[in-house]
Amino acid sequence: MSDGDSTAEQGLSNLLHEERRFAPSPEFAAQANARAEMYERAAADRVGFWEDQARDLSWDTPWETALDWQPPFAKWFVGGTLNVAYNCVDRHVESGHGDQVAIHWEGEPGDTRTITYADLQREVCKAANALTELGVAKGDRVAIYLPMVPEAVFAMLACARLGAPHSVVFGGFSADALASRIDDASAKLVITADGGFRRGAPSALKPAVDEAVSRTSSVEKVLVVQRTKQDVEWHEGRDVWWHEVVDRQPDTHAYEPHDSEHPLYILYTSGTTAKPKGILHTTGGYLTQVAYTHKYVFDLKPDTDVYWCSADIGWVTGHSYIVYGPLANRATQVMYEGTPDTPDRGRLWSIAEKYGVTILYTAPTLIRTMMKWGEEIPAAHDLSKIRLLGSVGEPINPEAWVWYRRVVGHDETPVCDTWWQTETGALMISPLPGVTTLKPGSAQRPLPGISAEVVDDRGEPVPNGGGGYLVLTEPWPSMLRGIWGDDTRYAETYWSRFPGRYFAGDGAKKDEDGDIWLLGRVDDVMNVSGHRISTTEVESALVSHPKVAEAAVVGATDPTTGQGIVAFVIVRGTVGEDEAAGAEIVQELRNHVSKEIGPIAKPRQIMIVPELPKTRSGKIMRRLLRDVAENRSVGDVTTLADSTVMDLISAKLPASA
Ligand code: WT7
Repeated sequence: MSDGDSTAEQGLSNLLHEERRFAPSPEFAAQANARAEMYERAAADRVGFWEDQARDLSWDTPWETALDWQPPFAKWFVGGTLNVAYNCVDRHVESGHGDQVAIHWEGEPGDTRTITYADLQREVCKAANALTELGVAKGDRVAIYLPMVPEAVFAMLACARLGAPHSVVFGGFSADALASRIDDASAKLVITADGGFRRGAPSALKPAVDEAVSRTSSVEKVLVVQRTKQDVEWHEGRDVWWHEVVDRQPDTHAYEPHDSEHPLYILYTSGTTAKPKGILHTTGGYLTQVAYTHKYVFDLKPDTDVYWCSADIGWVTGHSYIVYGPLANRATQVMYEGTPDTPDRGRLWSIAEKYGVTILYTAPTLIRTMMKWGEEIPAAHDLSKIRLLGSVGEPINPEAWVWYRRVVGHDETPVCDTWWQTETGALMISPLPGVTTLKPGSAQRPLPGISAEVVDDRGEPVPNGGGGYLVLTEPWPSMLRGIWGDDTRYAETYWSRFPGRYFAGDGAKKDEDGDIWLLGRVDDVMNVSGHRISTTEVESALVSHPKVAEAAVVGATDPTTGQGIVAFVIVRGTVGEDEAAGAEIVQELRNHVSKEIGPIAKPRQIMIVPELPKTRSGKIMRRLLRDVAENRSVGDVTTLADSTVMDLISAKLPASA
């Protein structure tokens, strides 16, 4: 665990020199949803504060007990019932906003769809009726493997309406990854598409589903959205077209209220082992916190704002800040199918201009890419309506923060760096726009209602100016309720390092004002373009290749993607020296990882080495490999079982891809 410290320390020294401050403008503060008093109110009565937030939702039965906390298991709004789809759709139509646009959808080729809340209600009801016809009942799990098309939103809300937990699998994951997720949750139905448009061409999804389903036994039906019209293999009796089954359904559906603790979804994320964890989120507390954070951190004004979160629906950001939070708050939002450079590098800005986007939520990796492409590209578009910017996924370096505010936020908008995780379900640490004086690169304070601390190795809070591990000290409404099917792993992973407190896996620093600066993971998890990938997962993909004897993977600092995956591989004796020295094997192994996990896990670099640095107990010293990967002189080698190993490795370099 302390293995991550050297990188964390480096980040720290850079950050400590950051002294720029941005006070809220009086105009923004005057109209802001957030108020400074929220901190005091929440501190005085934390649970009561959350009850106030929960009252913004529509409940069918009020709760009896706000919080039942039996560490590490929490239940929120116990006894209450509600329907998430009703809260995100129907209630807005009932309050007279049926004609308001819910989603301005833009396909990559330039086709568009405008979906009002009344349209959304009809689509969700039809989809719910179709799922019922296909045999999905409350409690059944549904896997969703879709591109960024509106049907992804309809499908998720239809599942929520029925109380059938969805498991959305990012469309960039491989058939293998999809199969293991289908299996782990015993999904009964898979919702997919023929394909989606990416980089100007149709990219197939259905073949991965066919392969995955053939290896699993729980799936009864596959519901297929027709998006690209490319050829698909068809399994009679199992596969059904969305347009054939959903379109003919009645467009009304009487919803059933679900228990506040009824499972809403499972979302898999990488941990420190090879097996991804199925993070479980439930109904009432989750919706309360995503709606609350979306309202105050993004300052949403539902009648005038056009909100855009550029994440993919396959990640938690898409779940909480494209689907559940914004729709619960009656946002009008933009949803885009494709890549930022198709047909050209101005695509995001032309979309923002076209729809008059006022609030933009994106990731540091994208901001840094835009910096690289040049500020004349955003400058060529009218972004004057943008009034608030958000960042998520990894630490944002101050230069990227300042660029984002100056170029995209025309030197005046607040920028909120929001820290959270798949497990936390919703934002946890972020400035409040209009209230907080902003510091570039810092997520600053836990939101009102959230309790976080930075602690040292022994679990003692560090003083201001100190650094250590980020922990969450009180339960929060949208917290994960467990790992699907594995309560033991849940307790061990998150609650055993510092008993009674949630261990986030991130290093953090408290500055002289007590503000929090996140420094990246302290465990064996990498963060590549805001995507979480475990070193062990990539290692196990590598060793599954017949030519690989051993592999060690590290995340090396990368100027654009945050971290890049660097693998050190020992090949088997059957591989000849010439082959081992060549570029072909490196390519073969990179492609193998891509096939096993998905293109996002493809190593940036693979080095074929004769040995790996290990301690006497056999643990790989990733710290030393990271030194090599980041071109630093190699640190302390005295704990190595064989101290000459690093010389052997260095002698072989560079043998990179
Ligand atoms: C990990 C969670 C939360 C949605 C996207 C990622 C890192 C996330 C920040 C931030 C510094 C951040 C952490 C965290 N992270 N946001 N604002 N500053 N680090 O969700 O895949 O569950 O990853 O992303 O390391 O633990 P995720």
